[in-house]
Amino acid sequence: MVTPKKPTDTSHLIDELTGSSRLRRTRRCPWMRAMVAEARLSPADLILPIFLIEGEDREESIDAMPGVSRFTIDHAVLVAKKAASLGIPLIAPFPNVALEKRDTTGSEITNPDNIICEFIRAVKAAVPEIGVMTDAALDPFTDHGHDGVLRDGEIVNDESVEQIVAGALVQAEAGADIIAPSDMMDGRIGAIRVALDEAGYQDVAIMSYTAKYASGFYGPYREAIGTEGLLQGDKKTYYIDPANSEDAMREAQQDIDEGADMLMVKPGMPYLDIVRRMKDEFSMPVFAYQVSGEYTMIELAAAAGVVDGDRVRMESLIAFKRAGADGILTYHAMHIAEKLNAQSPAIT
Ligand code: PBG
Repeated sequence: MVTPKKPTDTSHLIDELTGSSRLRRTRRCPWMRAMVAEARLSPADLILPIFLIEGEDREESIDAMPGVSRFTIDHAVLVAKKAASLGIPLIAPFPNVALEKRDTTGSEITNPDNIICEFIRAVKAAVPEIGVMTDAALDPFTDHGHDGVLRDGEIVNDESVEQIVAGALVQAEAGADIIAPSDMMDGRIGAIRVALDEAGYQDVAIMSYTAKYASGFYGPYREAIGTEGLLQGDKKTYYIDPANSEDAMREAQQDIDEGADMLMVKPGMPYLDIVRRMKDEFSMPVFAYQVSGEYTMIELAAAAGVVDGDRVRMESLIAFKRAGADGILTYHAMHIAEKLNAQSPAIT
């Protein structure tokens, strides 16, 4: 280690250490940074979740998710139309189902006229240019808030899969483009694929929530779909333990073997290492879900004035792209698509 004697020695020393390389050259100005940026974000990377409620002409705000609402189908269709006009390719409806329609087996998911199916038909009629991806998990439809059928305190796998498959079929029949089961039951991807094919829905794709973690970051979502007071216990017997990544990789391999077209990692920001591993390991589209708790943390920090909201929203999303995600399911989608469309070319 050479110790410089006086300040003028420093640049000589740095030249010796770095050779002629000066990494700051490519960070010098906006056009240069834009030119060398590896990851880019566009509205086409965004998937917009939309919360649904029954009834007409109503929008309800969600206390735990500032800026996010539940919409009746008529309003939700207008949201979908706006999303399409901004270049968002796909929407993901999540329903807040009336309590009297929820039961132990989530049987309402099999009703071809349930709120999800009604919404799919309405969007397909009014906004055919946008894709619709539906979850086939049972939690919005069960009176205990679990993603499967509850028997003697246990979420039973195979009976849950039957119910999930029945749900996927009515969703496909209503016009869903992508079935995205988020329940983590074993064997559900293969069972859904076979059932879809047998029913003639070969073109309906499956995005598997392949690495879904038992996470505290889902908190605000439970208020959004009205399961927060219902959920008995937790979901640790079927979601992945946050300590694990091998488990996620085995799950992904199985889902691919069973016929998944795309993979999803959820939550997003605390699990970007899993996104990167999946992208490196499998030649598959990999998506990530920036979940409700991640959204609300950013919104509350921005509202408190301790971070610059737009800056960290954008930064959080570019981080997904850098980690290898092909797209992001995010409650920021609409706002960010507007920003991206306004700043063209994107130089920050
Ligand atoms: C359950 C489901 C969850 C979310 C969507 N569907 C997790 C849960 O409630 O346990 C969370 C989404 C979010 O937090 O934004 N199938």
